Amino acid sequence: MTQSNCRNRAVCAFLLAAFALTAPFAVAQFPRGQQPPKHYAWSDTSLSPDARADMVIKELTLDEKISLLHGNGFSFGQTGASESNGGAGYSVGIPRVGIPAIQMADSAYGVTRGAASGRYSTALPNNLAAASSWDPQAAFDYGALIGRELREEGYSMSLGGGVNLPREPRNGRTFEYQGEDPLLAGTLVGNFVKGVQSEHIIGDLKHYAINDQESGRNAVNANIDKRSMRETDLRAFEIALKISDAGAFMCSYNRVNGDFACENTYLLTDVLRKDFHFPGFVLSDWGGTHSTAKASHAGLDQEQPGKGFFGDELKKAVDSGEVSQDEINEHVHRILRTIFATGLFDNPVAKKVPDVEGGYVVAQKIAEKSIVLLKNEHNILPLEGERLHSVVLIGGHADVGVLSGGGSAQVDPPGGSVVPPPPPGPNPMAAFMRQTWMPSSPLRSLTAKLPSATVSYNSGDDLTAAADAAKKANIAIVFAYQWESEGMDLKTLELSDEQNKLIETVAAANPKTIVVLESGSPVTMPWIDKVAGVVEAWYPGIRGAEALADLLTGNANPTGKLAITFPKSDADLPHPTLELPPPTSQPSRPAPGADISSFMAMIAKGLPAFETYYDEKLKVGYKWYDAEKKPVLFPFGFGLSYTTYAYSGLTVRGGESKEVSFTVRNTGKRAGTEIAEVYTSLPDAAGEPPKRLIGWARVELAPGESKKVSVPVDHDRLTIYDESSNSWKLVPGSYNVMVGGSSQELPLHQQITLP
Ligand code: BGC
Repeated sequence: MTQSNCRNRAVCAFLLAAFALTAPFAVAQFPRGQQPPKHYAWSDTSLSPDARADMVIKELTLDEKISLLHGNGFSFGQTGASESNGGAGYSVGIPRVGIPAIQMADSAYGVTRGAASGRYSTALPNNLAAASSWDPQAAFDYGALIGRELREEGYSMSLGGGVNLPREPRNGRTFEYQGEDPLLAGTLVGNFVKGVQSEHIIGDLKHYAINDQESGRNAVNANIDKRSMRETDLRAFEIALKISDAGAFMCSYNRVNGDFACENTYLLTDVLRKDFHFPGFVLSDWGGTHSTAKASHAGLDQEQPGKGFFGDELKKAVDSGEVSQDEINEHVHRILRTIFATGLFDNPVAKKVPDVEGGYVVAQKIAEKSIVLLKNEHNILPLEGERLHSVVLIGGHADVGVLSGGGSAQVDPPGGSVVPPPPPGPNPMAAFMRQTWMPSSPLRSLTAKLPSATVSYNSGDDLTAAADAAKKANIAIVFAYQWESEGMDLKTLELSDEQNKLIETVAAANPKTIVVLESGSPVTMPWIDKVAGVVEAWYPGIRGAEALADLLTGNANPTGKLAITFPKSDADLPHPTLELPPPTSQPSRPAPGADISSFMAMIAKGLPAFETYYDEKLKVGYKWYDAEKKPVLFPFGFGLSYTTYAYSGLTVRGGESKEVSFTVRNTGKRAGTEIAEVYTSLPDAAGEPPKRLIGWARVELAPGESKKVSVPVDHDRLTIYDESSNSWKLVPGSYNVMVGGSSQELPLHQQITLP
């Protein structure tokens, strides 16, 4: 029952009130700014989203149009937030024509800022973790869960969909992205956003583009040639868009080749609108708008979170003729057509209590596919057998929880962090960054899975006590972590000195030492030869420990493979040291709680540029290490299982698009899922790195079972971008197609010649 279908108003009002008192959570509430659906001419779903948008535009005044083109302040308590749903921002609706407000929440690995409003949302494994599944269906399920919970919490738009490539893996937001290969990252993010939008919630892709470090992010000017951009970072966005039909793109803070991304005609118009045929809207990252006419002409449709440029200033620009009515209509059209195309108009958001148990199931399944087994000497794992009497977990707060990634993506755990946050350091963004531990206890989960062994915990604070505990146990598991967050970059991929020392000490005390890592970026491992096992658990989410315990004890067989290379040391990175901005390009933010308007004004004005040169060009991730012949710690695509696989019988067939077929056999004693990877080299004349990923398959196999696998390879996976003709070309010549279980273990090869 809703107010709109109730005939006897007095009776209905009473019933509604009584119902609300007895079953408050069962009533669908339309969030502020939302209306129950009414019939308008543009309610006709047989019309195209474009036609429906144009019908609405004809009804709107200039003021109404402009009201759609900007945000209304930080909604979490800063300014003008009366209609906010409590998320990162919103744009108003126009109730008289049934257009809903767009209520936005950050939602990279779950819906954020739940705690402030007493809401629960599921913390999934972080994005780079989930990318290790190489599983588009899991990515879809991940997005669909987020879409559902957004809707249930009264939001209509997700701010997630991060797909920047890790040109700088020390970037504090590497955990929010999907790794280093454009095909893998684009495919997974595309499916993630498709999942979000399957719930009629607007999805976005961000941060467009080349926003690859946090240090000086509002000032940095990324210098990069067009071919490199198109084939790497922008390629990931292009693939993601094609799969998802994302309703929005968020342009990033940084400059690219001189212009800020949010007023960059090349990025927003030449590439996004003309080449990618993107029909949706571009919104600026928070404070990423720097001009009115320039940004509008370049293709920015909506300023967020405020209206310094796209409010009164935009109206003035229209009045003076600097920005045309047609241009305004185009911006408005893009927003409205997205509201229709995603189904948001026809399926208004209605609040509900989320299905917490359902969320746990999805989170645990994805965590199980995300965790990567990196080393397993003498099959130390899985932990099983009669001689296993005792296991000690050391360090990393493994008694109570698992780590999560911070910043705007931070999902609030129910009950708050299970580890009190460390004292805020000198970084004024400390409160926003909030080191947070999820209540998912490895100690509790492993104890439950190993009923006949003693499972204990030692904090690792005292090296002698840790070594003693390790000596007394059959197996020692050190939990090591590297926390990262928006608002910072890692100084190095090395763990802290104390953690490296702890691992060395424990390994010296007990050769049966396993290291479990919780990190958002690769870590270096100076102790790798001294430990028997290494498991990368990433930030595994609200059911992370449960998934980890199943994998460590063999109740589940690891399948995850790295979506990012683990180098041996920082010195092997394309940029051995992090590029740091001068103080003028990175002013301090005001202290938590203080007024941030003058800081935002300073950012808006445009901080002096500092330059980074992405002169590794096409050589991102494994392409760099391959080309430079640098040995790595663990290559892209690597991950062990408790069984083994053999590959045979490669054939490559087809015309323009190819089909790569081969057989995978499970040669071990356990059922498992192998991620079989297909790469190719290109002819020398192409001037490409030694190889690129062109496809993969997840192959489920019982012990001893063989399966023939066919991986379709679209023509565009083989092409290169030609700057002079602004087109993609196939370079004639010899291609070496390679198949196997990691980017460095490719037993099958076949040479093909393409005309
Ligand atoms: C981040 C975005 C985020 C926005 C809103 C910015 O600081 O870069 O990713 O969506 O804030 O919270």
